[in-house]
Amino acid sequence: MPKRIAAIVVFLIASLTAVLPLRAETLTATSPDGAITLTVSDDGGLAIYAVSHGDKSVIAPSKLGMLFRDHHGFDRDLAITGSQTATHDATWEQPWGERRFVRDHHNELAVTFAAQTGPARSITVRFRVFDTGLGFRYELTEQEAFTSEINIMDELTQFGVGAESKAWYTPSDEFNRYEYIYRTGRAGDVDDAHTPVTFRNPAGVHISIHEAALVNYSGMSLEALRQGNFEARLRPGSDGIRVKTSAPFNTPWRTIQIAPDAAGLINSDIILNLNEPNKLGDVSWVEPGKYIGIWWAMHINERTWGNDGIHGATNEETKRYIDFAAEHGFAGVLVEGWNIGWDGDWFNNGALFNFTEAYADFDLEELGRYARSKGVRIIGHHETSGDVSNYESQMEAAFDLYQSVGVAQVKTGYVADAGDISRVDENGITQFEWHDSQFMVGHHLRAVEAAAKRQISINAHEPVKDTGLRRTYPNWMTREGARGMEFNAWGTPPNPTSHISTLAFTRMLAGPMDYTPGIFDLKPNERPPVREDMPRGDPSNRPQTTLAKQLALYVVLYSPLQMAADLPENYEQRMDAFQFIKDVPADWQESIALAGEVGEYVAIARQERGGDEWFLGAVTDGTPRIVEVPTDFLEAGKSYTAQFYVDGADAHWDTNPYDIVIESRDVTGGEALSLHLASSGGAAIRFIPASE
Ligand code: NOJ
Ligand code: CA
Repeated sequence: MPKRIAAIVVFLIASLTAVLPLRAETLTATSPDGAITLTVSDDGGLAIYAVSHGDKSVIAPSKLGMLFRDHHGFDRDLAITGSQTATHDATWEQPWGERRFVRDHHNELAVTFAAQTGPARSITVRFRVFDTGLGFRYELTEQEAFTSEINIMDELTQFGVGAESKAWYTPSDEFNRYEYIYRTGRAGDVDDAHTPVTFRNPAGVHISIHEAALVNYSGMSLEALRQGNFEARLRPGSDGIRVKTSAPFNTPWRTIQIAPDAAGLINSDIILNLNEPNKLGDVSWVEPGKYIGIWWAMHINERTWGNDGIHGATNEETKRYIDFAAEHGFAGVLVEGWNIGWDGDWFNNGALFNFTEAYADFDLEELGRYARSKGVRIIGHHETSGDVSNYESQMEAAFDLYQSVGVAQVKTGYVADAGDISRVDENGITQFEWHDSQFMVGHHLRAVEAAAKRQISINAHEPVKDTGLRRTYPNWMTREGARGMEFNAWGTPPNPTSHISTLAFTRMLAGPMDYTPGIFDLKPNERPPVREDMPRGDPSNRPQTTLAKQLALYVVLYSPLQMAADLPENYEQRMDAFQFIKDVPADWQESIALAGEVGEYVAIARQERGGDEWFLGAVTDGTPRIVEVPTDFLEAGKSYTAQFYVDGADAHWDTNPYDIVIESRDVTGGEALSLHLASSGGAAIRFIPASE
């Protein structure tokens, strides 16, 4: 080669290597059982990852990256400059939960991508691969390129699940926050979705995308880029900035649960394992339990929150509920509408709520004392109607007051349209925020920490979604964040027959839900109105389930605070069925999803915490079916007395919802049970070991 040409070639190679690595680097990690393979590369100067399960693709090669307003970002011209691996296998204990011991077994791969153009800078993506899926997060260390405040404008994380996967999702940008009937369809037809969102790809692999440990960041939803390829979209704050932070920082974990069958999605602890351990120390004061409340009466127009003649939260009515709770072994009585601010249009008047002043017909101190004298606690209620500044200005005093009267759990509420949380900023100007904005992520933790100082636990309604923070803050016990039972009183349409068997494989993967099960009067809007100006709702608004399915919800829908939502007088009509609600625990030693298909049916078994009894709940959608469940969860060959609460032969949610068979018979551990579930029916079973 002539010298000049050789020099040019050397120059070209040298300048090319400065911009792009000549050969892309590809790194891999697998799950401990070897079934899941992750590959990470810098092919073409892009940060790319892909995931497969066995020989089936789960996530097609998808991009990673992040853009900032005032700094050079991580988008292109990237090269892998370092990596580290580790293996972790340890078991930790939950103070309360769906299982007591949680195994965290994963292989870790941390990959550092350095920018090859512009200011020197790098970002690390840490992956953890478990047998049931993987999580990864971005880690930005302290470095010269990032000394000032960082405004994140976009996270470029992509999830290529494929256009032909089937999706179960709720839209992420509509007014009703997370409270939607689940939509089903081709992933290629989904525009945007809240997480957790569930997919089943054409090869039959089940996938759930969500996030873990959402702290000091904004919530992630998925937005379609091209058909079936989604990008993480971070909820912007009122100023348009998606996340304000500074280096060093870690993002929440982006999680991809993977299972060959639907039940496998439920039998995964990825979300909890990716959260930090308990920060609160001794949390023996956090008490799981069941409760009743002055609640459904308002939703079916039998009583009111405000003070207008049929006020629900009166001394007399509260004592009636406390007496009923004491008689039937409930730990708590929720009282809504006790404090000033409910009169008139409370939905739009959050500024009027006073969190320390009770209505004249409600004596908080006396009722707190009365409840404790009966071994029951009042459960507090703070509805904010989304005026978070009004709430924060009173929050400490409000928790002090509740602590002084023995309240150990508070239900909070953020009823406001999505994007309408109001906040007064440092200049006194009112700004509007989303329920999953960085501001609200911060607010919830401020509330949880203020409550923890007073040994109070939180059950948030209209919350930000659950990302497993109960591990770090065990007093953040449960929340709503999906369509709950209330929609069956006034929602048009009510929750469809497929709702529960969809929730089990979607929303419930995030964590516990205060669905408020146990409605026994299944046609509440057919009762005569209590007052002319308070008409009942549309009679077609009603729980679309059989009575047995209402019982099964106590096992299927996990919540450490579990409500018996109906009126005491309705339970008094059906004490035989009510017995199951009295017997079922709210805290578990172990939980196992036995069978199911997303949106169709599900069967779950759970063992009581600190005892040998097992409980089984199974529900179906509108299609009646026989579900075969092996009782392998019981001790093999051991004899149990099983109390069955199952649909009668003619049961049907619409035409014959009360047809229930309640009977006891012996079951041997390992024996297969064949459960007949009626249209939108269910089965609830208690297994008591025969005494030796
Ligand atoms: C909506 C909550 O989900 C419901 O449980 C509560 O009764 C009302 N808000 C009033 O706070
Ligand atoms: Ca709600």
